[in-house]
Amino acid sequence: MTNENMLKEKIVKIKQEALTAVEKAKNVEEILQLEIQFLGRKSDFVGILRQLKDVSVEEKREVGQLANSVKVEIQTLLEEKKKSLSSSFDAQAEKIDVTIPALKMRQGHLHPLTKIQNEIEDIFTSMGFEIADGPEVEDEFHNFDALNMPKDHPARDMQDTFWLKSENKKNRIVLRTHTSNVQIRYMETHQPPFRIIAPGRIYRNEASDSTHEHTFHQFEALVVGDEINVGNFKFVAQQFFSKFFKKEIQIRIRPSFFPFTEPSFEFDISCTICGGKGCSACKNVGWLEIGGAGMVNQNVFVASGYPRGKYQGFAWGFGLERLAMMKYKIDDIRHFHSGDLRFIKQF
Ligand code: DAH
Repeated sequence: MTNENMLKEKIVKIKQEALTAVEKAKNVEEILQLEIQFLGRKSDFVGILRQLKDVSVEEKREVGQLANSVKVEIQTLLEEKKKSLSSSFDAQAEKIDVTIPALKMRQGHLHPLTKIQNEIEDIFTSMGFEIADGPEVEDEFHNFDALNMPKDHPARDMQDTFWLKSENKKNRIVLRTHTSNVQIRYMETHQPPFRIIAPGRIYRNEASDSTHEHTFHQFEALVVGDEINVGNFKFVAQQFFSKFFKKEIQIRIRPSFFPFTEPSFEFDISCTICGGKGCSACKNVGWLEIGGAGMVNQNVFVASGYPRGKYQGFAWGFGLERLAMMKYKIDDIRHFHSGDLRFIKQF
């Protein structure tokens, strides 16, 4: 067989192979593969075109023409198949059953403590209070000294403190043990009269049980003006708790001690279950303990930069978890940070 005929035969054979292969191709990826296999740089076809340089001019023309027309044919074939494959779709696989119930979307919601905090903030803003904020990593001055608790003061032992490593030995760094630091922070930058609450996270270095956690929340209140008195405190507190528990709440104050208030009180509300008659929730006393309060000690005003004796104010610090527990009848403070969705989902 002449060289020319051999080449022609090879070209025709390639064409046949390509026809069958394209016929069988089932998807666009396969077509792209075939394109490389039959017409790519390393294909037999291109190999044959290279061999043309060894044949006579006459032969070159004939074989060249054939090669060209075969090339165009294969290209067209691939193109058409590619088009038909990408436009065809499997009706069975694409079938949509509109009667299948939709997937259940899991919906998130606010944490019970966040809800309580929002609720408290709403009630107080409706009474003309501002919401204030302060750092959780605090210095000794704002957490203790300015609140009338100097370094050697025994009252410092009332709160078990997480001390952080600090360079400054004179004013060490702590995780704040109460929200009372915000009293100082706020007064350093604002002048009376004002009324604020400051909800926030606090830390105590103590073992946890059903009523104690190392990390919990308080909300501080501070109202300062020329003639703020205990009557104002009782009225604001009574209004707030009645709104919060959505029922008429009575309040009671008992003498107590805090370095930052004078006089200081322990604050109780009438039992939210029995209203004061006595039940298991209030251990039959009719009252529930809420937290500490009092009239701001003048030393605290002075430490914040106010003149002694010019202003009067009341303050309190109540536990947020305690209020949430009373409102939702939760029996263990550790639920809040447990991460247990069975608990969280109930709110
Ligand atoms: N800071 C106190 C504590 O965490 C609570 C407290 C008591 C805050 C009396 C006050 C207050 O503002 O007047 O134990």
